Amino acid sequence: MKVVVVGGGYVGLVTATCLAERLHDVTIIEIDAEKVRAINAGLPPIYEKGLEGLLKKNAGKRLRAQTGFDAVAAAEIVFICVGTPQRPDGSADLTFIESASTAIGTALKNASSCIVVTKSTVPPGTTENVVRPRVLAASRKTGTEIGFAMNPEFLREGRAVEDFLNPDRIVIGSSDPETGKRVARVYEGFPAPVLFTGISAAEMIKYASNAFLATKISFSNEIGNICKRLGIDVYEVMKGAGLDPRIGPLFLNAGAGFGGSCFPKDVAALISLARKNGEDPVLLQSVLAVNEQQPHRMTALLEEKIGSLSKKRIAVLGLAFKDNTDDIRDSRAIVVIADLLRKGASVAAYDPMAMENMRRIFPEIEYSSSAAAALRGADGCLVMTEWPEFSYLDDEFGLMAQKVIIEGRRILSCKGADGICW
Ligand code: UGA
Repeated sequence: MKVVVVGGGYVGLVTATCLAERLHDVTIIEIDAEKVRAINAGLPPIYEKGLEGLLKKNAGKRLRAQTGFDAVAAAEIVFICVGTPQRPDGSADLTFIESASTAIGTALKNASSCIVVTKSTVPPGTTENVVRPRVLAASRKTGTEIGFAMNPEFLREGRAVEDFLNPDRIVIGSSDPETGKRVARVYEGFPAPVLFTGISAAEMIKYASNAFLATKISFSNEIGNICKRLGIDVYEVMKGAGLDPRIGPLFLNAGAGFGGSCFPKDVAALISLARKNGEDPVLLQSVLAVNEQQPHRMTALLEEKIGSLSKKRIAVLGLAFKDNTDDIRDSRAIVVIADLLRKGASVAAYDPMAMENMRRIFPEIEYSSSAAAALRGADGCLVMTEWPEFSYLDDEFGLMAQKVIIEGRRILSCKGADGICW
């Protein structure tokens, strides 16, 4: 099929590259000319496992990028994959959705038919009330020639290519069954059940999924905080609880809490949406409140162990919001570093991938060439990211056992470390 993807960011680029790999003819529309050049040269502007190989294979053949919207006129399906950042009040900023919709509509003026599909994470009602009217007004069409649908993405950073090609479900929301079936043709041959829903339900499925996963983490953290008081290992507890298929074993890892570009933003947007509609979302607010506390609990525990942090040297291992990425957005490491600096400590940080990004936020701290270098001379250490390489530290250097270590992720093998929830 002839597919256009508007937005060459993380979701758009992965979607476009994987659809090209699945033999569709795909054009990415991206305003950043530098990104367009990189994509056309087969060089992904972001790091994502497996992406470079697929991009190199398809760029210039079934996949191309451009800045203009003219490719939309010939497209059977247009996916909107632009960002929906968080506004200061927590709600989703739909500016890019609005401008993309108008530009798509303008390009569709002379087209005979097309389906416009929202893939960005958007509050329920956005496709119907923001995308549809803008596309129709700019295209001067009535709505019969253009179909509208919503098809949320469920990609984990670091595993996005694998998740796209092997999804656990494909959700397609549309106002009429025919449009839904035409969108499903894009995914023919994908090994996953397809769920057809209404448009707003599809939009809500994305929020509900992320909010539920965030709730599992905050729930485990709260149980972990109680376990810590009682001297119980929460990992043993959640392993036992997770064996119940109604609970399930995944996303029960207690620790420093969730970060990244999705969970904090999406839960905040859902809270904002609930309030705007007269609902007080007490559970969701608690999910964020527990998450906000977890990193502060780490510095408090460190203080309990070594006393005042003033003039102490503290190693912070792991800066990315999770392993296998250089992304530091909403990373729990940002919260602890700010805490440590406020308390007068000096910080020696190490991360295998994310140090350059963190340097932009904290240029004043020391960035070490290795975990061992950060640990040298440190009075204490906080482990913030589940990088597998940290689990070998003790075996390799014998360094950890001699230090006061507070673990925010259950990753170390050494005995002496103190877990935040265990
Ligand atoms: C998340 C969802 O997992 C994806 O399904 C979704 O598509 C994506 O958001 C999105 O909305 O685009 P992602 O943000 O890449 O994916 O990261 P996760 O692997 O879900 O981890 C999020 C955070 O939770 C990390 O900081 C991680 O350390 C933390 N976490 C995860 C825990 O603290 N405990 C756990 O048990 C699992």
